Amino acid sequence: MEKRINRPHVLIMSEMTVDGKLTLWKGASSKILMQFMDPETEILLHKTRAEYDAIMVGSNTIRIDNSMLTVRHAKGSNPIRVIPNRGADIPLDSNVLGPDAQTVITVSEEAPQERVAALLKKGVDVLVAGKKEIDFSLLMTLLYDKYHVRSLMVEGGPTLNYYMLKNRLVDELRLIHLPFIVGGADTPSLVGGMHIRSVEEMFHLSLKNHYMCGKNLITEYDILYQ
Ligand SMILES: NC(=O)c1ccc[n+]([C@@H]2O[C@H](COP(=O)([O-])OP(=O)(O)OC[C@H]3O[C@@H](n4cnc5c(N)ncnc54)[C@H](OP(=O)(O)O)[C@@H]3O)[C@@H](O)[C@H]2O)c1
Repeated sequence: MEKRINRPHVLIMSEMTVDGKLTLWKGASSKILMQFMDPETEILLHKTRAEYDAIMVGSNTIRIDNSMLTVRHAKGSNPIRVIPNRGADIPLDSNVLGPDAQTVITVSEEAPQERVAALLKKGVDVLVAGKKEIDFSLLMTLLYDKYHVRSLMVEGGPTLNYYMLKNRLVDELRLIHLPFIVGGADTPSLVGGMHIRSVEEMFHLSLKNHYMCGKNLITEYDILYQ
């Protein structure tokens, strides 16, 4: 039997179009799409944030969306914000570097010291996890042991979703379905970076719940690793 590392329970939560896209075109902020989310669904998203110990998004989402990752449309405290960013090179005026919530920027051992120092000066924590690339399994253990994170919500983007799934670190998926089709071969979809060549490489999911939240369909899945 596979030995499970000490890690938080992980949920990926994402809104996506009928054709599985997370935004309108490559490089576009998902906030454009989010404005069509039902207000009730926005509350669900923020309630979920408040229920989780930590929230993680990729550095490219920070660059494009400049996310706050705080709880604003529900009661509850802000989760710890975690951003994997090998080179410690997210913009220093990013909203996540502000004082609204605790933030942990995860870098590799090769991150330039002056960039790490600039991040530390903003008052955030910098956590080294991995030599050249982020070691996501190590990151999960560090969050569990050092920050007592028992539950982690991942809010994309597609590249981060891929690395988390590839490393078998995701337990659940919750999708907010938006009734649009946007197309575009290179438009970011739920999971980027995947190029499978056989059925054995597919991720298997089990649908465990589906319901309407305002005007949006919500589906919930467990991830079944083979
Ligand atoms: N609809 C939604 O719910 C939703 C949610 C979030 C984002 N989005 C959209 O998604 C798009 C951005 O997604 P994205 O896929 O471009 O970026 P992303 O997933 O936000 O960021 C890429 C992440 O992967 C890491 N990474 C890349 N290569 C790696 C490697 N070899 N090893 C370890 N880590 C690696 C990057 O870290 P480094 O800094 O180290 O490269 C970064 O943290 C935006 O358009 C945004 O609006 C939509």
